Amino acid sequence: ARQVNGRTAAPAVAVRASRRSLRCEARKVALLGAAGGIGQPLALLLKMNKFVTELALYDIGNVVGVAADLSHCNTPVKVAGYTGPEELGACLKGADLVVIPAGVPRKPGMTRDDLFNTNAGIVKGLIEAVAKHAPQAVIEIITNPVNSTVPIAAETLKALGVYDPKKLIGVSSLDIVRANTFVSEARGLDMKDVDVPVIGGHAGATILPLLSQTTPAVTFTDAEKKAMTDKIQNAGTVVVEAKAGKGSATLSMAYAAARMAESTLLGLNGEPNIYECAFVASEVVPEVPYFATKVLLGPQGVAKVMGMGELDSFEKAALQAMIPQLKGEIQKGIDFVKNPP
Ligand code: NAI
Repeated sequence: ARQVNGRTAAPAVAVRASRRSLRCEARKVALLGAAGGIGQPLALLLKMNKFVTELALYDIGNVVGVAADLSHCNTPVKVAGYTGPEELGACLKGADLVVIPAGVPRKPGMTRDDLFNTNAGIVKGLIEAVAKHAPQAVIEIITNPVNSTVPIAAETLKALGVYDPKKLIGVSSLDIVRANTFVSEARGLDMKDVDVPVIGGHAGATILPLLSQTTPAVTFTDAEKKAMTDKIQNAGTVVVEAKAGKGSATLSMAYAAARMAESTLLGLNGEPNIYECAFVASEVVPEVPYFATKVLLGPQGVAKVMGMGELDSFEKAALQAMIPQLKGEIQKGIDFVKNPP
């Protein structure tokens, strides 16, 4: 049977309303890079989330003010700010979920891979601290290039003896959010009904929307399929260019990450049937050790990596074409930790 992702299709407000009766556990979320373009709106959305009880905001600067500001919102979430490496341990201690958008974003003309040299070290350093202070937490990595930062995190955790593949998640949910929006608009469908799975990775041609598996079923000509796939793959670059040097997607990313975080907390709380697409350790495509597909979220993080279903001929060709890039970007991350330059 097809895994229908009610989480993908439903807007946050409707989800909140329909889940009002749910049991709430005490849940601490640590947000690393909380003063940044993604961090601030994501912190706001987490402060509004009824499944969060404690929100720990960490950055290398400007985060105490963000925490003070946010703490005045009259929601029950307890907020605290932590600045610099000496306060990172306290930020992480007891966290159930660690969300990481720390690092530099793209400027016009850059690929996500161009961020590697700066962001690889940032992610490695933060993950070392997570391994030490919150080894039990689910970790969600937003920092680009996700295709490499997730393997960096995995190798770092392995070296420290605390790697659990169920608890390491590369956040690709913005690709699904974009695909849902663009397909809804193109076909005049209600946004809340549309669910487009997106598989592969999170960079250029590795972003593969499965338009043939869209809910509700929609048909595209080959030309339309290609145009829609290009539009979804290039959406991040469109934002980078429109912001003209002042950053990349932040608000839509915060929205997508907040949804991913909420789904993860629902899974941790034992809510059944919570599916999201995410970039995780996977055997779905034998050539690559990490791959984004729909996953089932549960009490330990990723409860099950779902398959990718039946692809049409356009999608099969796109999958074959992306593998060398994805494989290379994953290997670059592994090498950064295993064979440092
Ligand atoms: P930003 O520059 O506005 O914010 C980044 C924040 O990270 C800053 O506050 C900075 O002080 C902080 N930071 C830097 N080094 C740190 C460290 N060692 N520890 C803690 N904090 C540190 O950037 P923005 O727009 O928030 O983007 C963040 C990352 O998210 C970028 O790598 C970007 O490429 C990525 N991104 C990922 C997306 C995805 O779909 N996964 C979508 C959009 C952006």
